[in-house]
Amino acid sequence: MIHYQFTHLSEEIRARVDALLAQMTLEEKIGQMNQVTPHWTSDLEAQLRTGQIGSILGIIDPTEINRFQRIAVQESRLGIPLLIGNDVIHGYRTVFPIPLAEACTWDPALQEQASRVAAAEAAACGTDWIFAPMVDICRDPRWGRIAEGAGEDPFLGRAMARARVRGFQSAGLPGRRRIVACPKHYVAYGAAEAGRDYNSTDPSERTLRDVYLPPFKAAFDEGAGTTMSAFNEIGGIPATANSFTLKRVLREEWGFADMLVVSDYNAIAELVAHGIAADLKEAARKAIMAGVDMDMMSFAYIRHLADLVREGSVPEAAIDAAVRRILALKFALGLFDHPYIDEMLPAQVILHPEHRALALEVARRSMVLLKNDGLLPLRVAPTSKIALIGPLADDHAAPLGCWAWMGRPEDVESVLDGFQACLPAGIELDHVRGCAVWRDPFEEFGRAEAAARAADVAVLVLGEDAHMSGEARSRAYLDLPGRQQALLERVLTTGTPTVVVLMSGRPLVLTPWIDRVNAVLQAWHGGIRAGRAVAEILLGQVNPSGKLSVTFPRALGQVPIYYAHKNTGRPLQGTGTLQFADPFWSRYIDEENEPCFPFGYGLSYTTYRYDNLQIETPVVEMGGTLRVSATVTNTGTMAGEEVVQLYVRDLVGSVTRPVKELKGFQRIALAPGESVRVSLAVPADELGFHGPDNRYVVEPGAFRVWIGPNSVEGLEGEFELRA
Ligand code: NOJ
Repeated sequence: MIHYQFTHLSEEIRARVDALLAQMTLEEKIGQMNQVTPHWTSDLEAQLRTGQIGSILGIIDPTEINRFQRIAVQESRLGIPLLIGNDVIHGYRTVFPIPLAEACTWDPALQEQASRVAAAEAAACGTDWIFAPMVDICRDPRWGRIAEGAGEDPFLGRAMARARVRGFQSAGLPGRRRIVACPKHYVAYGAAEAGRDYNSTDPSERTLRDVYLPPFKAAFDEGAGTTMSAFNEIGGIPATANSFTLKRVLREEWGFADMLVVSDYNAIAELVAHGIAADLKEAARKAIMAGVDMDMMSFAYIRHLADLVREGSVPEAAIDAAVRRILALKFALGLFDHPYIDEMLPAQVILHPEHRALALEVARRSMVLLKNDGLLPLRVAPTSKIALIGPLADDHAAPLGCWAWMGRPEDVESVLDGFQACLPAGIELDHVRGCAVWRDPFEEFGRAEAAARAADVAVLVLGEDAHMSGEARSRAYLDLPGRQQALLERVLTTGTPTVVVLMSGRPLVLTPWIDRVNAVLQAWHGGIRAGRAVAEILLGQVNPSGKLSVTFPRALGQVPIYYAHKNTGRPLQGTGTLQFADPFWSRYIDEENEPCFPFGYGLSYTTYRYDNLQIETPVVEMGGTLRVSATVTNTGTMAGEEVVQLYVRDLVGSVTRPVKELKGFQRIALAPGESVRVSLAVPADELGFHGPDNRYVVEPGAFRVWIGPNSVEGLEGEFELRA
């Protein structure tokens, strides 16, 4: 499957752009830089006719899209087509699991397929420009937008970013138009202080370069043609007025001269609230001079750029550079040659059976078995009784998760639907809602207790609804919301074996109750086939294989928590809490340092043994490749898939290095008793970091390496990187 690279434009496109630009007035140029949504724009049609709008976001009705496009193409002076942008974060109408869950598949090829499906549905309905992938690294589950990204790790984040760009940009319509991706939010948005959305960030330049920028670079290297400047400030300079990130890094160091930068929604106007612009006019000047090409919904460019040019505070060359990028993208997408969409196409594409099947496959692989004392898979006999309890057990909206605005609850299989489809006839299934997710006082604890008491097993489906994560959905508490823990406690009084299925858009703190339940499946917000996947996993029809893309804290106070932390000068030795005899270590007096579940963790119904570690290259030359292999054996009785992970530690550097860093992984399938020799390769160039002067360096020296099932367990060896 060929995916289109938007970062290297042809001479033919450049020539067409130059010819068109030469005919444009200053006002027409600035019109191209203006992106609006019809819901907040009066006189939209008149503005289209006068060439004041270059792009529309937030419209999905194909007839309406064609109507606006006809006005732009047939009734404006130069007939320049519109770019239609939309948020297609984890599927269009076929909603896939949230991206945080998709990353738990550790399966970039599957992620690529899912992104292609999302883009194919979006394209059929008239979207040209997908505001995704969201590639913000996040290490703080209070931040609601952690749901939209690939989690805490830049290496996994890069793999997922590349896969998603490939998927999106290979999905264009046959013989017609293409789709362009928009990796966002450039940059460091996921570092929001205290996990509060839109809050300030202040990563060091080194952390910016080692952690937050790499997924963007990966997405751009894969050919993504646009990016979105973020809402947040970065150490005092808002991302939307930040010439260091937008010009120096993006355009000069990385060389993406043609990359179109759109601001986030109203982010140019917000430069005033940030306190770096006195008014909208100054905000417009700062944004264009920093390198923002298109204004999403601030009306700053359309109102002020022409005056700024006439006054001499903004050179017309800056406008021309921005408009060149916009027009070039429109040519590259095929919009000039094929401006309209076939309104009959959506019916053939949307929710295609193959798309629904893929959504099920992604859901199965994204779910993570966190605990199992042997209760799972459920062994159901013809006389079994199952109590299915909880506010999310038959919820058809929550599995859609955040940012799924084309998704519809009627497309969703709830867990109850899943059980009904998968259970053999005759098995008694008693469904009790028990309580609301939060805020609503509804409670039926008595019924829940009675159902659990009468059953052989209680399955509780608990967690967050779709509106508790995503944009502007930060949480100060990470426990089960509302009365759900009380409901769980009530069920636990019955002594009936209990499974908790957790649906959430973030890691929750499970410590208050996890020791008292028999099994926990982290199902996330799993998309339209979530309920089916849950039922298949609980009943053993599918062996779980997801691995966490993010650390689960034991306590809220540990946040931010992530596996790739630094050692500090006083690293805690061993585990455990209060060691009052010797407290002067980097630790808490009232909680362990360890998380509840580490990055990379996930159980299976079978067991895997790792042995025979071989460091095939005990000495790696600069420019060479580290090769490490191990044997992985399925020691259980069920076929399964394991995600084999490789981590390294650079023992001594010119700057401090994380205690572990993911540098490779591979998903393998193993029949019962089967052994596979897994060999993982890491180019020496991947072993570097940004040194004392913030330049990328690969330093010689001793390294430790692990191959294992997660970020804390594994076989350990050593190698040397030699100059
Ligand atoms: C604001 C969000 O931050 C961004 O992710 C989204 O793409 C835009 N709005 C457009 O909807």
